[in-house]
Amino acid sequence: MSLYDGVDLRLNVPHSARMYDYYLGGFTNFAADREAAGQALAALPWLRSAARANRAFVHRSTRALAEAGLDQFLDIGTGIPTSPNLHEIAQAVNPRARIVYVDNDPIVLSHARALLTGAPGGRTAYVEADLADPAALLAAPSLRGTLDLSRPVALSLNAVLHFIPDGAGAPDGAGTRRAHAIVEHLKAALAPGSALVISHVTADFAPEEIARVTGIYHSAGTPLQARTHHEITRFLAGWTVLAPGLVPVPRWRPAGSDDTVVTDIEASGYAAVAVKP
Ligand SMILES: C[S@@+](CC[C@H](N)C(=O)[O-])C[C@H]1O[C@@H](n2cnc3c(N)ncnc32)[C@H](O)[C@@H]1O
Repeated sequence: MSLYDGVDLRLNVPHSARMYDYYLGGFTNFAADREAAGQALAALPWLRSAARANRAFVHRSTRALAEAGLDQFLDIGTGIPTSPNLHEIAQAVNPRARIVYVDNDPIVLSHARALLTGAPGGRTAYVEADLADPAALLAAPSLRGTLDLSRPVALSLNAVLHFIPDGAGAPDGAGTRRAHAIVEHLKAALAPGSALVISHVTADFAPEEIARVTGIYHSAGTPLQARTHHEITRFLAGWTVLAPGLVPVPRWRPAGSDDTVVTDIEASGYAAVAVKP
């Protein structure tokens, strides 16, 4: 029996999770993903560095929050497992940490076993849900059975909000500011002391190249919306943004690892962590 039996992976259509896996040097990608990813790499030759810098931010921010005492993590837009995964970082600091992973791509679900091998004292769970429907996502029984939402939670929305476009093109026709409304819905459900971790593609540093990449994603059927520093700052509204603020991804508390040599243009993304007062 194959890992993918009974799962409609739509392998003839490129998918963002598998394209990202390709940039990171993974093997969970197929011809259509590699073709679209190859076009994106031709438009933005440093895309692999951007993906690695983003992944390194996921690690640094998770470690920082676990070290600050957060022991519940909600990771929406998890991606195909790439070790170390978020739970491995959090549970290396606190083995009792609880992690809920959420993604809407069936291929991530089919690999979720790799995400569910947490430390014995902690817990991990996987929920297949769509960020576009935050109410349903938050109501998922395995999320509620793993996380106590009356206590602080670290919510990570890394490299996923740019897949929620605003405006008339939004699939549910909800109009502009859709991604911001979704984030406000999630923020409202969390207790004081919770953290919001965001990384997001921007065209602020390389407008022409990023425009070409967003065009390639659109043609591939995966709308991608770069946002400005101002637009991404608005996701953090009302929460206390931790130092160093909303900054180019490699500049968020660099740890001296190889991602720190990535320039702002190469990263073409912003990252921040904010805490609910
Ligand atoms: C670029 S990957 C980011 C993976 C990981 N968060 C990271 O930063 O390394 C984006 C992930 O978001 C998922 N995704 C995209 N749109 C989504 C949505 N509406 N709901 C849930 N997940 C979504 C994709 O399936 C993919 O796995």
